[in-house]
Order: sequence, then C-alpha cells, then structure tokens
Amino acid sequence: MTAKPLENVPSDDELDTLGNEELVKLGTALDGVELVYREPRWPVPGTRAEKRAERSIAIWFALGGLFALAFLGVFLWWPWQYQGMGQKNYGLYIAYNPLLGITFGLSVLSIGVGAVLYTKKFIPEEIAVQQRHDAGGSPKIDKKTTAALFTNALESSTLPRRKMILASAGFGVGVLGLGAAIGFLGGLIKNPWAGRAAAPLWHTGWSTRWDSLTNTYGAPKNETVFLRNDIGDPYKVQLVKPEDMDAGGMMTVFPWRVSDGFGETEDSRERLLNGLKAIRNPVMLIRLRPEDSARAIKRKGQEDFNYGDYWAYTKVCSHFGCPTSLYEQQTNRILCPCHQSQFNALEYGKPVFGPAARALAQLPISTNEQGYMIANGDFIEQVGPAFWEATH
Ligand code: FES
Repeated sequence: MTAKPLENVPSDDELDTLGNEELVKLGTALDGVELVYREPRWPVPGTRAEKRAERSIAIWFALGGLFALAFLGVFLWWPWQYQGMGQKNYGLYIAYNPLLGITFGLSVLSIGVGAVLYTKKFIPEEIAVQQRHDAGGSPKIDKKTTAALFTNALESSTLPRRKMILASAGFGVGVLGLGAAIGFLGGLIKNPWAGRAAAPLWHTGWSTRWDSLTNTYGAPKNETVFLRNDIGDPYKVQLVKPEDMDAGGMMTVFPWRVSDGFGETEDSRERLLNGLKAIRNPVMLIRLRPEDSARAIKRKGQEDFNYGDYWAYTKVCSHFGCPTSLYEQQTNRILCPCHQSQFNALEYGKPVFGPAARALAQLPISTNEQGYMIANGDFIEQVGPAFWEATH
C-alpha cells in the first residue's frame, strides 16, 4: 500500500516560514503517519510521583557512574601482577579479572535500566499508524521535517528540563565512556613481558631460580631440574629416561628438583602438587623417528635445545593457551583442539595451520650423568598467548 500523495506540498521558500509544530505535522503527513493516540505520562506536572520517578532514574544513572568509577579504580590500582598459588596476594590476583567484569557490567546494566525506565516513565504514550509508501518528497522537505520530528521527540520526552536526570546520566555515561577508553588504552600500555627478569610471565617452573613452594622466581639455586612423568598420583615421582619412550611417541612432563622431595613432608607435597598444576609447566616431550629428526629444522639460537631425537615443546598453545595435547606421528604435527591450530614438530613448533601465529616455545633438554632427562634452563620464548608479540 502506498501513502496518498499530499496535496499542497509547500515550496522550499514556504518551508522556511513554517514553525516546528507545523513541520512535525507535515513530516508525519508526508510519511503517511496517523497519530491515533498520544498522552503525556504526567499530565499534571510536578507531582510527588513524578519527582519520585525522576529521582529513581537519576539514582540508576548515578549508580552506573559509581560502578564505572569502581571499574576505573580496579583497573588502575588493583594489584594485578601475577601471583602464584599459595602466595600472599594470590586471592587479590585472581579477583582482578572478575572484578573488572563485574564493575563494568554493573555500570552498563545500571545505565541501561535508567534509560529503559526513562522511556517508560517520561516518553509520551502514543499509538501511530504508518502506511507503507514509496520514498518521495524533496530532500529539503525530508531534512526539515525529520529535524522537526527529532526536536519534537526531544521536547515531548521532557528530558531537557529534567536537570537531575541529565546530570546523573552525564555522570554515568561520561565515567563509563572514560573507563572504557582507559581500559582499552591501558591494555596497550601495560606490557606484561616488559623487563624480562622482573616480568613474571617470562618464568616457569623449569627455571633453576623457581621456588615451587611459593611459585615465584627468586635467587639462583643451581639445582638440576628433571623431567617428571605424571603417573596419576601427584606424590609419586617418576623421572624420565630417554629409553622410556618409543620413536614417534609423546609424553607430558613436568619439572621436578631434589628439593621438591618425594612427598614426605607437607611442604614437599605442596611443591609436588604445584609442579603439576602451575599453568606454564606442562611440556610435550616428543621422540621423533630418527629419519624425521634428521631433517628437522632448528630455530636460530636454539640449535642445541633438542636432545638427539627428543624435542620438548610447551603444551600451552600460543594462540589462546589451550593444551596442545595431540601429536600426530605420521605428519609430525602438533594439534591444538581448541581452534585447530597445527604446529610442525619438525620445524621448532612453527604454526602451519589455524589462528596461532607464534611457534610453541621449546624447552632446552639433555640428560645428566645418570641418564635422566633434565632441562638445560627455562624457555627463552614466551609460553602461551602473548598479546605483546616479541620483536626478535
Ligand atoms: S588456543 Fe590453540 S588454537 Fe586457539
């Protein structure tokens, strides 16, 4: 159905002489809109009920602003630095992300509730019917009548005279916007990899300076770090020897040092458990078939990281940190089940398919005099996902 063509459409010059109300009428007529019913929410202005409604909406907007302030406070001042399990501020550290989400979410929710309540309580109730019609009218008519309709909508919403709501909405939306902008920019400023030794993300349980009781990086201990197999009981230590694996096999290994003990004391049990649970510790030990190992390509600066046919790659995917637990012997590819990234075990864990853009970090390994497999130090590349990519 099309709108009836309007008789007496004013000329451009006549348009300039029309007032806002006349323009609104013209605009609705041009659009084929028929106003069936329109009633202001508060026919008698200034009643106590109206003021109460105004206050409740202002409170919602103000709450939005306060939650946005809380978000900003958490983002800027909360002790977000990594703390290992058992460390003093571990609880504060793991509360950081949930608090950011909760405060930001509550801020958006409060402002949303305020906006919805405002529509329900102050925008006039109206029923209008519009006939479907073809586009028509001169651009000038369209522009003027549309602008008049907007002005009319704003006036009939009574918003311009509701100072309390305007102030609280300005506060709420302003602080939320500021929080969102700082949150976005702040993520570009705080580099969790900066300052190598001081940056906790660089260190794992494979470092000789790692304290597995407190999960912290500290003074050098010069203790050998062995490769330990997880046999299902965290308090049973089974170290790995090269002959434990067949060619083409894969085993998940974890760090262990003599000072971690064998679970004879409470401290030792804690250390053994931490060694298995620390998120950057799991490593895939792969024994390549000799013919494959012979054609493997080594990463520059990591030429001695493998031990013969044995290659050790972090199990933490460089895309989003899922465990890259699948090793396909036929293709020598390591698969991450989360988003299907594939890494070439024959080329220092380089990504060959999927969203991951960085190679899996490789652990330097060898054996000690007794023939046990040991780590020759920590990883030298980032383990897991890194928003801040290495430049080397
Ligand atoms: S986390 Fe591994 S592919 Fe996404």
